[in-house]
Amino acid sequence: MNTATNPAFTPETTVGAIVAERPALARVFERLGIDYCCGGKQTLAAACARRNLDPHTVGLMLAATVTANDAPSEVDAAGMTLTQLADHIEQTHHVYVKSELPRLVEMAGRVAGKHGWRDGRLAEVHQTVIALAEEMFSHMRKEELILFPMVRQIEAGAADGSFHCGSIANPISVMEAEHESAGNAVARLRELTDGFTPDAESCNTHRALLAGLAEFEGDLHRHVHKENNILFPRALAQSGNN
Ligand SMILES: [Fe+2]
Ligand SMILES: [Fe+2]
Repeated sequence: MNTATNPAFTPETTVGAIVAERPALARVFERLGIDYCCGGKQTLAAACARRNLDPHTVGLMLAATVTANDAPSEVDAAGMTLTQLADHIEQTHHVYVKSELPRLVEMAGRVAGKHGWRDGRLAEVHQTVIALAEEMFSHMRKEELILFPMVRQIEAGAADGSFHCGSIANPISVMEAEHESAGNAVARLRELTDGFTPDAESCNTHRALLAGLAEFEGDLHRHVHKENNILFPRALAQSGNN
């Protein structure tokens, strides 16, 4: 694939649209440090420029991944109805976050208590995971109790986007700001752990914590991508608020 000629992925295509069309390409962006979820509205050219990457090389990497994953393993979020997508997000990503974050908080506490003396950053890892868990639980509650029901009503034709709390654009912009904050917390965790990399002295709990955090980061990116780049813009468009 040549990014200059392929109509699907020109340098002007947004990275969020690329992942919406080809979910498997999220892994390429993750490897390159390109933010496709909160930063999903940036074009491929702009994203490459920010990371000092050659867009042609990135295009070749995307093409190679498309060929290798022609049947994408991720669900086709862009092909779902809004209700199906909201249900899917709740039943997969929200369920995962609810079960995984308490486990990560507990492990981060144990690792900080035992090994904090040799790596002072472990206390901040623990505090960051606690704050992230508090934020994510409150955030998902708002989506499940307020925003997703509004989205389902809009799709059912029972509402036009105006609710007692005003336009659906209001809760969406709050959710997007909270995604940014969660993304920053995960980026900070990556920094504090040298890219979730254990060292020779790391015990098994420390290794399990790092593996869990790395997996959490990938899941958060896919989760936020489905909301920011697919669910929210389509809900806004259907409510006439885009
Ligand atoms: Fe969510
Ligand atoms: Fe969210």
